[in-house]
Amino acid sequence: MSSREQFSSKTGFVMAAAGSAIGLGNIWGFPTQTASNGGAAFVAVYFLMTFCLAYPVLIAELVIGRYARANMVNALQEVAIGPITQKLGMGVGIYGVIVASLILSFYGIIAGWMICFLIESVASMLGYEQFSSWLTSFGFERNILSMAVFMLLTMSIVAGGVEGGIEKWSTRLMPMLLVLMVVLIAYVLTQDGAAQGLRVYLLPDLSHFNPALVLNAMGQAFFSLSLGVGTMLIYGSYLGKEESLPKLGAAVTLIDAGIAFTAGLLIIPAIYVAKELGTTVFAESGELIAGPDLIFQVLPSLFASMGSVGYLVAFAFFTLMTIASLTSSISMLEVPVALVTEQSGMARKRATAIISSVIFAVSTVILLNFEQLFDFVINLTTVYSQPLLAVAICVFSGWIWHRNKILAEIKQGHEDIEDSLFWKIWPIYVKFFCPVLILAAFLQSVIG
Ligand code: PHE
Repeated sequence: MSSREQFSSKTGFVMAAAGSAIGLGNIWGFPTQTASNGGAAFVAVYFLMTFCLAYPVLIAELVIGRYARANMVNALQEVAIGPITQKLGMGVGIYGVIVASLILSFYGIIAGWMICFLIESVASMLGYEQFSSWLTSFGFERNILSMAVFMLLTMSIVAGGVEGGIEKWSTRLMPMLLVLMVVLIAYVLTQDGAAQGLRVYLLPDLSHFNPALVLNAMGQAFFSLSLGVGTMLIYGSYLGKEESLPKLGAAVTLIDAGIAFTAGLLIIPAIYVAKELGTTVFAESGELIAGPDLIFQVLPSLFASMGSVGYLVAFAFFTLMTIASLTSSISMLEVPVALVTEQSGMARKRATAIISSVIFAVSTVILLNFEQLFDFVINLTTVYSQPLLAVAICVFSGWIWHRNKILAEIKQGHEDIEDSLFWKIWPIYVKFFCPVLILAAFLQSVIG
C-alpha cells in the first residue's frame, strides 16, 4: 500500500480542522440562535458547553483517528475488543459516514444559495435586473444549478488530496475569511442601531436563562465543532505522531468559538441596524425572523440601504459565507471518500467523483421534494443523529478502548500528559459526563 497522506504541518491541520468547524453553523446558526435565545446569556452557556463538553469529544475523535490511521468505520473496529464491539464499531462507523454525506446533501443546497447571492451582488451592480431576480427567487432551476456549482468546487478540492487540496485551500481561505469579517464588523458598528445590538449581545439578561437554552447551546456546540460524524476523526488520522492532540484540539476549539463570537459581533448589530432602516426583523409575536430569512432577506435589504457601497459589502459577505461553507463541505466529503479509498483501494479522484455524484443525486431528490425533505433531513442528521453518534464516540473511548492504549497514543506528542490536569479530568469526562449530558439533551429534544 502506498504511504498514507498526512497534513504537512501543525498550521495546516489547524487551518483544515478549524475550516471544517467554521461554517454556516458559526456565521449563521450561532448568531441566529443567540438572537432568538435572548442574547448574551446564550453566548455564555454556549462557551461553557464548547469547552466542557464538545472539546472532550473532539479529543476523543482525534485520538481514535490518529491511533487507527483510518476512516471512522475501520477506526472504531480497530479500538473494539471483541466481535460484538467490532460489529458495533462497524455499524456506528457506517451510520456516521451516511450522516456526514446527508449533512453535505443539505449543506450544498444552502451553500448554493450563498453563491447565488454572491453573483447577484455583481449582477445587480451591472444592472442585470432579470438575472438578479432569478438568482434571488426560490426556484428548482436556480437551486439545482447553484448546488451543482458548489458540489463541483467541493469535489475538485477533495480530489486534490489532503495536502494539495484540503490543506492548501483551507490555509488560503481561512485567513481571508477573518479579514473579510473584521472589515464588515468595522462598517456595521458605525451604523445607527448597532449599539443596541451590541448591548443585547454582550450584556447577559439572566431572565432569559432556561433549560431549552442550555440544550440549544449544546447542540450548537456539537454541530459547530463538526462532531460525531467522523470528520474530526479522519482529520486526526492525517496528523503526525509528534503533535500534541490536547493542544491542537484546544486551538481548534478556541478558533471555532472565537469565530462564532466574532460572527455574532457582525450579525447581531446588523440585525438592529436593519431594524433601524425599517426592515421587518422581528415577527409580530416579537420573535426574531430566524432561519434562512435572516440572511437572505434582512441582510440583503441592509446592503441595499447602503447605496453603491452596498454591492461591495454584499459581495464581501456572501464570499465569506461561500468560503466558510466550502472549508466545511470538503471535510464532510472527505469522510465517505476516505472510507471508499481505504476499503477498496479505488483512486481518490475516481472515488471523489462517484461519491459526489451520489450526493448530488440525493440533493436533487431533496430539491424535488423540498417541503417534505429539507427540514426533515436537517433534523434527522443534526438533531437526531449527531448527538447519538457523539455518545457512541464517548462509549468507544471511555468504555470500550483500553485506557492504557489511549494514554500511550496521547503521550505521543505530549510526553508529560500523565501528570497533567487534562489527564486527571478528560477520561472521566468522556466516560460519564459527556454521554449522560448529551443523552439528556437528546431525550429533551425528542420528547420536548
Ligand atoms: N461545523 C460545520 C458548521 O458549523 C458543520 C459541519 C458539521 C461540518 C458536521 C462537518 C461535519 O457549519
